[in-house]
Amino acid sequence: MDKFSSRMGAVAAAAGSAVGLGNVWRFPYIAGEDGGAAFLLLYVAFVVLISIPVLLTEFVLGRSTGKPVTSAFAALGASRRWQLVGFAGMLTAFLILSYYNIVSGWTLYYGVHSLAGDLSGLSEGEVQQVFDELTRSPAESILWMSLMLFGTAWIVSRGVAGGIEKYGKILMPLLFVLLVVMLVRSLTLEGAAAGMAFYLKPDFSKLDGRAVFDALGQSFFSLSIGMGTMTTYGSYIRKEANLAGVAWRVASIDFLVAFLAGAVIFPCVFAFGVNPAQGPGLVFVTLPNIFNQIPLGSLFAFLFFALLVVAALTSSVSLLEVVVAYFTDSFRMPRKRATVVAGALTLVFGVACALSSFIFDLFDNLTANVLLPLGALLIVVFVTHRLPRELFVNECAAHGAPWPLAAACFFLLRWIIPVAIAAIFVGGVYNWIF
Ligand code: TRP
Repeated sequence: MDKFSSRMGAVAAAAGSAVGLGNVWRFPYIAGEDGGAAFLLLYVAFVVLISIPVLLTEFVLGRSTGKPVTSAFAALGASRRWQLVGFAGMLTAFLILSYYNIVSGWTLYYGVHSLAGDLSGLSEGEVQQVFDELTRSPAESILWMSLMLFGTAWIVSRGVAGGIEKYGKILMPLLFVLLVVMLVRSLTLEGAAAGMAFYLKPDFSKLDGRAVFDALGQSFFSLSIGMGTMTTYGSYIRKEANLAGVAWRVASIDFLVAFLAGAVIFPCVFAFGVNPAQGPGLVFVTLPNIFNQIPLGSLFAFLFFALLVVAALTSSVSLLEVVVAYFTDSFRMPRKRATVVAGALTLVFGVACALSSFIFDLFDNLTANVLLPLGALLIVVFVTHRLPRELFVNECAAHGAPWPLAAACFFLLRWIIPVAIAAIFVGGVYNWIF
């Protein structure tokens, strides 16, 4: 089995999975719908108290077995019913991939058209129109989505450790630097203050059940947890690496990118009179405006969207990898053939999302808010109630994490976190349906 070459390699690969459209596209649009600053606070609380421990649990499950999520349960002697959790995670990966690739495709479209200069000098209304036209044309969406899917499959077919590690190490820090440049421009726009107030001055009256539900789902989505991506990646981490350290680093990087993206976008939203609650198009109808205000804006826009395409690729690769690892591991299919089969299936689901915004929204909500919390809940219950405590604690404490910290984390995972996830989940589903 391939392994990541070092701890830095493991952090880079896992951060590559975590940092993606979830940070730059999904986080701002959800925060915009759920009222801004109060949502942000809730999000931070969930990341620290729930998602980081869950991420650690997935790493433990993967590394202790050396298996992808679809066979990790069996490797620990779990019953068939528990093994279904891994299988369900693999199906969740399909659903996420199919709409994720559409948004990746939009990103690619914006990158190419920025380079051609098509987006420069447009008014706010025209910027909105570009997005509306793109999303109203399924053929266009399908074309760009297919290109991204093809790229994803190409990387996955070459194998994880070699393929994925390289891309993240140079290009991701570059994305970060570019976001900082954009932040400077965004903060100096006229009207930026109202955006910053929306983003950073909490108004708790805006915090409803929906926001709680969304914040939990978004924290799972952004960290790629709840369906086995991080279990599968955990199996590629060497025994010497400190898992808690990797989890903490990955979560910090992931949060920082999401926070920055929000800090760039909200001042811009208010300065250009965009509706913050407008949904999945938010980033695409906001950012082109800011590039229009920067010297060499087309070039910056191209660079930004290109880097975002790379970030999206390293994430979609991690989703496709779960499916491919299932085929290669459970059916001994050669990696290339497994990739072709998984890619073709994803294409079919993707076309459905391109044809219907209802299916797109359904997949988006269903996966992040329902399937990921459910998967996380089951994984945590399995590791803390079905396996000996020593397995978790030793796996964490062996190479780095202080023993008391590992033990405290185990306690939290065994008794508090499942109850919290279940409560938020039940409340959220109730709200969503009724
Ligand atoms: N976390 C990625 C992002 O923010 C998306 C992603 C990759 C993902 N793998 C996942 C989401 C597994 C949920 C589960 O863009």
